[in-house]
Amino acid sequence: LVNIIDQYGEQAMHFDAAEARLSGRIARLKPSLVREILAAATRPGTISFAGGLPAADLMPPLPIDAVADPSLYQYGATEGEPAYREAVADWIGESGLEVAASQVLPLGGSQQGLDLAAKLLVDAATPILTEAPTYLAALQVFQLFGADIATVSVNAVGPDLDQLEQRLARHKPAAIYLVPTFQNPAGTCYDLAARRAVAALLDRHGTLLIEDDPYRAVSLDLENPPVPISALLRSAPWIYLGSFSKILWPGWRIGYLAARQDLMPHLIVLKQASDLHTQRPAQLAVSRWLRGGGRAEHVERLRAGYRLRRDAMQSALCRHFGDIAEWQVPPGGLFFWVRLRRHQATRQLLAQAMDKGVAFMPGEAFYPGPTPPREHLRLNYSHATPEQMERGVSILSALVRDGA
Ligand SMILES: Cc1ncc(COP(=O)(O)O)c(C=O)c1O
Repeated sequence: LVNIIDQYGEQAMHFDAAEARLSGRIARLKPSLVREILAAATRPGTISFAGGLPAADLMPPLPIDAVADPSLYQYGATEGEPAYREAVADWIGESGLEVAASQVLPLGGSQQGLDLAAKLLVDAATPILTEAPTYLAALQVFQLFGADIATVSVNAVGPDLDQLEQRLARHKPAAIYLVPTFQNPAGTCYDLAARRAVAALLDRHGTLLIEDDPYRAVSLDLENPPVPISALLRSAPWIYLGSFSKILWPGWRIGYLAARQDLMPHLIVLKQASDLHTQRPAQLAVSRWLRGGGRAEHVERLRAGYRLRRDAMQSALCRHFGDIAEWQVPPGGLFFWVRLRRHQATRQLLAQAMDKGVAFMPGEAFYPGPTPPREHLRLNYSHATPEQMERGVSILSALVRDGA
């Protein structure tokens, strides 16, 4: 693991692309620190705050009987199963974004939507705007395709609007990638005023929005998060990504995108080139779940379970980090974003923490630039038990104090 952590800071993996006749983009391929830490974090006895693993005990049983239909054994359409597209269009509609079934494309997880969006939009040096910090696997995809990434900073209720306006005017990005609802890693949820202001700016500049919204249902303090920004756009194009990973079964790899109608033909062909179609049993099972009874109860149980864990993490942090760090209580999503007051580099803590059986994500992985802020930890609260949280957070606090 120490090796992995050390190598991670380097610009790229050391393939000799010319000798192996690999594509030029392979030189831009970065190993994902998350995957490597996750692999190490599954060692027995490790307390993991590292990944975004939903709680297994809050997942409903897989509806195997619902998918035993032999007609599902056959290939299906790239566009997806009509029942899934219709049920997902209604589900998205509940958020306030009205879409037709023909605007929905099933995905093997919303991560696939990032890949398709990058293939649609990004050539070498294409300017892309993201939040800072932002979801690191999105950075990984955009950078793989050669994006030139500029960032905009975000406060507790939305982005710095002056900075956003400036970046849109100066960089003329081909797209902006935002996670406005319980962001990974920072937990931020834009308020309605910020969403309206962002939509107005994107309309004015004609900038395409990629809105990533996997945590909307994991809302702990708001009954309903504000409407997606995609619903507030009048003229700018948009791609909206969603997922069932955080409320049902992430291992089943099922998500979706919806997009402005004119983008759909391109996205469907890109999807076809990628994997022909999304697995049909998952589409059928999820559409039955969406249409069946018990959905609201499941989401309520999930929220109640996560609220308990979030509050347990908050108590542990107050006890052990109160005088050495600052953070906001996340109103939803799966993470605390903690900043050390003394600006210690958290990546340096990781190897020692792993030696003591505690895994977390160093914050620098969530910034695209060469000199990222280094003093953040991203701590997941959905996976560990309250006892593990208490123990793990106290170990981390002792390491921070030793290193100060
Ligand atoms: C912001 C964000 N987007 C996308 C994903 C990918 O989710 P999926 O399992 O649907 O591929 C994640 C997963 O953690 C995420 O945090």
